[in-house]
Order: sequence, then structure tokens, then C-alpha cells
Amino acid sequence: MPVGSIREGLSQAKEIITKYPREQRFLLAALQDIQKEYNYLPREVLGLVREHFSVPMSRLYSMATFYKALTLEPKGQYVIKVCDGTACHIRGSGLLIEEIQRLLKIAPGETSADGKYSLETVNCLGSCALAPVMVINDQYYGKVAPASLGKILEELEAKG
Ligand code: FES
Repeated sequence: MPVGSIREGLSQAKEIITKYPREQRFLLAALQDIQKEYNYLPREVLGLVREHFSVPMSRLYSMATFYKALTLEPKGQYVIKVCDGTACHIRGSGLLIEEIQRLLKIAPGETSADGKYSLETVNCLGSCALAPVMVINDQYYGKVAPASLGKILEELEAKG
């Protein structure tokens, strides 16, 4: 969901949150669903979570910073995760990261100015046999060569 439509999306957020009982053991699942819907945890939505589960905001912030799958900052439409675990590192993940930086002008941890791409590095994506591996949203790419990155990004551009 685009960042600009958060307010309109609050009813969507309410729907996500209220499908969970008001018990704290469902808190993480609710936050994960929100992350999936918005690509981050908007502050307005966290306010709804706080009310529903009767937890302090500080608890939500500490969960958001503790769990790597959660983030308080808006991410790009496409989140590119390049694995830099041992197997991928040996097989050239550093070159992939450099090439993505060159093509998109963003460093790991950054989002492009147009809000389209975020670049992250991760430690292992569990597909070491396909090293070097990267994931763009839910799509896995294995044995990625730096020279193929331009084409992969072109395909994303064509999708919009
Ligand atoms: S080290 Fe990259 S997938 Fe395991």
C-alpha cells in the first residue's frame, strides 16, 4: 500500500487487528500482518494496535526494533535483500551489492528517492546451494550474476 494512503487504509488496519483476540500472545502475529500490508509499521496503525491489545507504545517500539522482519521506516515498493552469508559471500555477493548500488544509487539500508527500491543485506536466506542468492519481495533469485541485475531491474520497471 502506498505511504500516501495510510489514512484511507486505517479501516484496513482495524480489520487486520480486530481479527485477533485482545491477548498479547497475538501481538507479534498482528504486527507481522501489518508489516505485510503496509511494508512497514505506520505510527497511526501502531496506535490502533496499542488500544486493541492494551500495551504501552514502548513495548511496540521495542518489538519493532527487535524483530528484523518488522520496521518503523517506510520501505520501497521493491525490497531487494542480498544474502551476504558465508556461502553467498564466497560466491560474490559483494559484487552484487556493488552493482545494485551503482544501478540504483542506494547503499544497504537505504531506500531510493522515488520510494521504489530498498536495499538490504541479510545473513542467510536458507538457499546456500544457489549462492549468491537475493530476494526481491517474495521472489527468489539464485546464482545471480552482477551482469544479470540490469535485466532483473528492467523487468521490475516494466511491471511498474
Ligand atoms: S549464505 Fe546465502 S543463502 Fe545461505
